[in-house]
Amino acid sequence: MAELRLEELSASTIVAVNNMSLKPGQEEFLSPVSYGIAATVVNPQTSWQRVVLDGDEVVGFVSANFDPDFPQEYFRSVLWRINVDADDQGRGIGRFAVERLLDEARSRGMRSVNVIYEAGEGGPEAFFQRVGFSPVGETEYGEVIAEVAL
Ligand SMILES: CC(C)(COP(=O)(O)OP(=O)(O)OC[C@H]1O[C@@H](n2cnc3c(N)ncnc32)[C@H](O)[C@@H]1OP(=O)(O)O)[C@@H](O)C(=O)NCCC(=O)NCCS
Repeated sequence: MAELRLEELSASTIVAVNNMSLKPGQEEFLSPVSYGIAATVVNPQTSWQRVVLDGDEVVGFVSANFDPDFPQEYFRSVLWRINVDADDQGRGIGRFAVERLLDEARSRGMRSVNVIYEAGEGGPEAFFQRVGFSPVGETEYGEVIAEVAL
């Protein structure tokens, strides 16, 4: 694996990000209901998005929202979306992206980062737990709220 690095989303990477593939069964975990609802009130200025590159190849995407004024506490410092191209999963790229996101949160003075996910076979729960998130609650839609303290 060449050196992994993060870049801002750009005209030259956005197509590759949109064309990243998932493994069968992963689609249903991509967007828990709570994110869909929160998205309607997210301020674009508080969102952080990065592409993960391995050499010149786009292998992943990670985004977050950092907004101390967001109505729900668990959306004030939150991993919004992460995905790694199907062929590149299991190589440490997801962990790399989460670690950089936690660095970004620290540099903004955040004291924790949350993620909301649906538990279930084929979903991201085991990944989030391996990279340091622990369950701290549940949304009104039954999704898990997990947190990393910084
Ligand atoms: C979840 C996802 C981002 C993980 O990325 P990845 O690059 O495959 O993960 P990594 O290789 O960095 O794995 C990090 C750790 O999590 C573990 N892990 C990852 N996926 C796992 C799984 N499905 N089951 C068990 N453990 C898993 C790895 O074994 C590794 O553990 P270790 O570092 O202690 O050895 C990737 O599977 C994905 O894109 N899924 C589809 C999209 C999705 O569901 N996103 C989350 C909701 S937005």
